Amino acid sequence: MTDNTRRDFLKKTAAASAAFLVPKFASGALGANDRVRIAMIGVGSRGQELLKQIVAVPRTEVVAIADVYTRHLEEAKQIAPGIQTFDDHRRVLDMKDIDGVIVATPLHIHARHFLDTLAAGKDLYAEKTMTWSIPEAEKCLEAARKSDRVIQIGLQHESGGPFIDAKKWISAGMLGKVNQVESWMSRNTAHGQGQWVRQPAGDCTAQNVKWDAFLNGRPDNGFDAYKFMNWRLFWMFSGGNITENMIHQIAWIMSALDLPLPSAAYMSGGIFSEKDGREVPDTIAVTLDFPDEVVVTWQSTFSNRRYGLGQRILGSDGTVEYIAGATDMVRGESEEQVHYYPEKINRPNGSEIAGNSPTTNHMANWVECMRSRKTPNAPVQLGYGSAVAAHMANLSYRQQRRITLEEAKAFQPEY
Ligand SMILES: NC(=O)c1ccc[n+]([C@@H]2O[C@H](COP(=O)([O-])OP(=O)(O)OC[C@H]3O[C@@H](n4cnc5c(N)ncnc54)[C@H](O)[C@@H]3O)[C@@H](O)[C@H]2O)c1
Repeated sequence: MTDNTRRDFLKKTAAASAAFLVPKFASGALGANDRVRIAMIGVGSRGQELLKQIVAVPRTEVVAIADVYTRHLEEAKQIAPGIQTFDDHRRVLDMKDIDGVIVATPLHIHARHFLDTLAAGKDLYAEKTMTWSIPEAEKCLEAARKSDRVIQIGLQHESGGPFIDAKKWISAGMLGKVNQVESWMSRNTAHGQGQWVRQPAGDCTAQNVKWDAFLNGRPDNGFDAYKFMNWRLFWMFSGGNITENMIHQIAWIMSALDLPLPSAAYMSGGIFSEKDGREVPDTIAVTLDFPDEVVVTWQSTFSNRRYGLGQRILGSDGTVEYIAGATDMVRGESEEQVHYYPEKINRPNGSEIAGNSPTTNHMANWVECMRSRKTPNAPVQLGYGSAVAAHMANLSYRQQRRITLEEAKAFQPEY
């Protein structure tokens, strides 16, 4: 990224932030004690988790849900009895008395649901990754900038205690100059069981699924229950583990260090452990170059989980290390923690610190911001920046070469 484009990005980001401060309910229509009325689009696996989260937030009411699969609508009704259900998201958005919408649909439909929700004048909680492509991310950022809606992206680690601690240490200058960040994420499954693979239920049929709405413009080769349930495995619908998992970590790193968009991406790997017909790689090594001399690496495997996931921010004066789900070598137990370690050579009097900030509720943060009209913990600018970084990595993998930001932005993806 050139200095000019970086300045432009930062300027636009600031302008977009300002837009979020404009009160929606200038008349005071949504008071501190009023119930916030919520709808959801997409109540599959993650959507049902989010539904449980929102019904637990005080003074909220979930009134309507849209999903294209009858089974998922029925399951959601068990969690929130009495809600209205629809098989078309537009019917939910037509409802005048809905304040906010939670979107948890597959990646390739995010942009549509994002744009339609803003156009309907609702606040939005949008699952990550913000969009399936960079052009879609540009459109959503633009729409958000022109809107005064409160938008929270489902990057919940931004509300986590470890993030709050890391940000505090970095802002206090305790790391010195940071040139490198290393991060990783690893999983494993029993032999013969593919990572992410879901067996479709017997009722997952063309009668019970609105296939056309799921496809969202992708070529129709006939109803396919396996693809409907396992959309994560196919490029047409997904960005693989980059948009499923790297996104959380790269967003964490970018916001902890206040990084602009990457200037270039390299990604290697392949389908080495999950040879089940999927298109997205299971073994991955990503390098992202950022302006101002920062390199971030992320590696991932689906065939060994000993080291869980983590990120290490390596500064001249200190290190931030966040580890989650790794197996403690001594106790053999899983652990999650964030630490600061001084580089004694440059901070001889610095001492090691264990993070202790409590994790806050990401969903409740969205609702609080709907009332206060403040900017939530994971704003649209972060959704945008992390999505661009993720898509740059995938583009590099698919084109088997280094990709610059300019090349990535000019690329028009096809299905
Ligand atoms: N933040 C997190 O930690 C986290 C964790 C898991 C998943 N996710 C994200 O949540 C999203 C959903 O993932 P999932 O595992 O729940 O997928 P899923 O397939 O289980 O659920 C998607 C749901 O969307 C519905 N749907 C499909 N097309 C639709 C349409 N046009 N209109 C309305 N509903 C439609 C499907 O019927 C299904 O119920 C993804 O973006 C994923 O990355 C986030």
